[in-house]
Amino acid sequence: MSVKEQILARLDEQRGSYLSGEDIAESCGLTRSAVWKTIKSLQKEGYLIHAITNKGYCLSKETDVLSLPGIRKYLSSNTQMLSIKVQKMVSSTNEMIRQKAAEGTEEGYVVVAGEQTGGRGRFGRSFYSPTDTGIYMSVLLRPQFAAERGVRITTAAAVAVCEAIEELSKEEPQIKWVNDIYVNGKKVCGILTEASMGLESQTLESVVLGIGINVYQPEDGFPEEIKDRAGAIFMTRQMDMKNRLAAAVLNRFFPYYGRLHQENFMEEYKSRSLVIGNKILVLLQTGGVPATALDLDDDCHLKVRYEDGKEEYLYSGEISIRV
Ligand code: BTN
Repeated sequence: MSVKEQILARLDEQRGSYLSGEDIAESCGLTRSAVWKTIKSLQKEGYLIHAITNKGYCLSKETDVLSLPGIRKYLSSNTQMLSIKVQKMVSSTNEMIRQKAAEGTEEGYVVVAGEQTGGRGRFGRSFYSPTDTGIYMSVLLRPQFAAERGVRITTAAAVAVCEAIEELSKEEPQIKWVNDIYVNGKKVCGILTEASMGLESQTLESVVLGIGINVYQPEDGFPEEIKDRAGAIFMTRQMDMKNRLAAAVLNRFFPYYGRLHQENFMEEYKSRSLVIGNKILVLLQTGGVPATALDLDDDCHLKVRYEDGKEEYLYSGEISIRV
């Protein structure tokens, strides 16, 4: 453990109460001035540590900083083996993982970032990834199965994210086909799965599973162009929530991923669907076509009925819900 981690662990044991500098120095084998310097540096990283003369230091219960030890603390036994990298700011975690995949890195490599300057969304859009209020995370997978099964990774991830949010909040998340997670009518999470395929084998060589979660409202609110549909899970900061949520998503996803051949997650996915039974617009380049969303099949294709009575399955694409 580094000096920072040692001091943090010590403060964390008594989160919300004051510990004297002397006490910390003694238990970590440091001088008081080294403790003071480390506390200053932790504060700069975003840890809310109150310092009062003659009382000492207190790690606030509201502290919520993404960190590797912070995430590890909440991982279950089946995700402890993951190789996780936590970065304050990156361009795109999906892009980082794509590069790792090309270098031959093994399955189970995860990057979690507190900010993205070039976050990618579906259809070549950008994904707004401001500092300190969200979790931007990508996972490298090397599934040994045919490309058409790949959609199961996304459905399992969508279900895992919903369950993780439900575990840690009072919310009941829903899924808007294909893979947007909504809470109270607002999108709080987007999932972007990018695959590379072996041309001869027609199997998936690597998959980058990217998940972006708006945990809190961004400090300056969401940008104009998304502010009507984007939302956050929590109104106020919660102790360690980003670490807990990142770990909970991984804890929920990996057991599903291990059973991807035996099970698909469509029943669970369907029970959380925001679209089935609703009037929708199928968004084409030429405009929106009114339809009703009828059902989802086992491969997550959306069955729709158009106003002329014609029915068809949509394989991917975009819809909006009509109110
Ligand atoms: C969408 O809603 O269109 C999908 C958004 C996916 C965003 C995540 S954030 C982590 C990962 N890195 C990226 O650049 N994109 C995904």
